Amino acid sequence: MIFLEELTIKNMDEKLSELFKSNNNFEYEYISNNVEETKKIGKCFAKYISKGDIITLNGELGSGKTVFINGLASYFNIENDVCSPTFTIVNEYNTKDFPIYHFDVYRIKNSDEFLEGVGTDYFYNGACLIEWGDEVILDILPKNTIHIDIIKDEENKEKRIFKIWRKL
Ligand SMILES: Nc1ncnc2c1ncn2[C@@H]1O[C@H](COP(=O)(O)OP(=O)(O)O)[C@@H](O)[C@H]1O
Ligand SMILES: [Mg+2]
Repeated sequence: MIFLEELTIKNMDEKLSELFKSNNNFEYEYISNNVEETKKIGKCFAKYISKGDIITLNGELGSGKTVFINGLASYFNIENDVCSPTFTIVNEYNTKDFPIYHFDVYRIKNSDEFLEGVGTDYFYNGACLIEWGDEVILDILPKNTIHIDIIKDEENKEKRIFKIWRKL
């Protein structure tokens, strides 16, 4: 069963630590009103990731996938290393404990092309953040993948809904 809970800056730590510790289904929603708030949730998220975690970021161009990863990287003081891997498919950033693999699979056709050209070794060797993951390689992602859907607001240019979910 999936239950929807609201994520606020205040309860974010508690909820995210629960999400990473447990093996349950989850669905949280968080409203970001601007770039800084998106970076904040990314930075908070960063505390809990470790080697072997797979996180997909899904949402149209300009929704904030890379901004989120930038905020996440700021927790490790490596935000200046972050750039969009649209043409390279994967960037590697090093933290003290494990590498972070930042993917953008927008230019990949499907999971067969991903398996041939990239492979799944990255999934075990570091923490993987995959822009466009659900759109392109959903069928080869492990069940415990954490999905982040970012939905833009039609009226407010700076508002985004972040839906963080896992369905086992
Ligand atoms: N609340 C918000 N969160 C994230 N980005 C925002 C927000 N409001 C406006 N933006 C803008 O939207 C764009 C998001 O870009 P980016 O993260 O590169 O998108 P994506 O990687 O999803 O294509 C940036 O230009 C950023 O300034
Ligand atoms: Mg991007």
